[in-house]
Amino acid sequence: ARIEKGGHRHFMMKEIAEQPTVVGKVLDAYLTPEGDAVALDLEGIDFASIQRLSIVACGTAYYAGLVAKYWFERYARLPVDIDVASEFRYREPPFPEGTLGVFVSQSGETADTLAALRFATGEGIRTLALVNVPESSIAREADVAVQIHAGPEIAVASTKAFTCQLATFAVLVVKAAQARGALDAGGVAELLAALRKLPGLLSHALAVDDAIRTAAEAIAESHDVLFLGRGQMFPLALEGALKLKEISYLHAEGYPSGELKHGPIALVDKATPVVVLAPHDGLFEKTVSNMQEVMARGGRVLLISDARAIAQAGDEVWQAITMPDAPEFIQPVLYAVPAQLLAYHAAVAKGTDVDQPRNLAKSVTVE
Ligand code: G6P
Repeated sequence: ARIEKGGHRHFMMKEIAEQPTVVGKVLDAYLTPEGDAVALDLEGIDFASIQRLSIVACGTAYYAGLVAKYWFERYARLPVDIDVASEFRYREPPFPEGTLGVFVSQSGETADTLAALRFATGEGIRTLALVNVPESSIAREADVAVQIHAGPEIAVASTKAFTCQLATFAVLVVKAAQARGALDAGGVAELLAALRKLPGLLSHALAVDDAIRTAAEAIAESHDVLFLGRGQMFPLALEGALKLKEISYLHAEGYPSGELKHGPIALVDKATPVVVLAPHDGLFEKTVSNMQEVMARGGRVLLISDARAIAQAGDEVWQAITMPDAPEFIQPVLYAVPAQLLAYHAAVAKGTDVDQPRNLAKSVTVE
């Protein structure tokens, strides 16, 4: 059984470790061989004439869409609405002229996402799907389907599909920024250069495994865990909390760092670890003050960040995990790795069934 798991104990770990390779495949598929331009044909969908995106998905795919919202709005100046599919389909939102519906699904079979796609199609808007299974229902029914090239994902908790969804979105963001003239040639080249670094940086990120395991073993003893992130790292806080809940059964919540004082700070005590996903960026100063609020109340901060930010954060931090320096654009993809590893090692420490967690299904084809 270890052979099909590539020598790993669990499919989840195998799939985490595959990320540099499969993300590389996304870039090979959708960039020119030199990596200096986007080579992804969207069969007539032109971002220059699109006014708005409406992204719809469930679970981890939804969080990939949430990162994409930050990217499309920032780099392509394209407004994005985002919904979980079960809300979208019954809310029956109106679509402004020029809306493109974007449906994200690893399996391509999630019942709510499929129903949401059918609703959008019925309303006459154009639809684009990001899927991992080319022959799936969602791939077939969308106007255009883009493969995320993750390869078969066996573990119920999604890992490599998430980073491949992000890498595919990143390519779409560059394409949109270019088509809409939101970035000049230099700006586009900068994003592409960042993307080309992704496979190598993902390999470096995997080296945090030992440090994360130590932290995860301590976290596995607690009952509640908070995850904080700001801006494009906020969806990673949500994803980190989701992964931990799914496989270790610890109660975890992801929050935007700035919302800490509006509720979750009431939960903070010595027993509640607070995982802060915060590379050095324009908002890091603000995150430092959020961490101080936590530490002042006896909270234990696990800071996942780069060397520069960790030095700035001071030594009251409970534990720090040093990630490689990376261009801002790709940081959400990179920080998926420690979030996944933290959940994985907490689950192993607790002795749960990592690949087949209780009550969850890989693909939810019923409502
Ligand atoms: C289930 C899985 C999750 C997944 C979600 C959406 O809940 O357990 O890992 O993120 O469905 O699945 P999809 O196949 O549509 O991406």
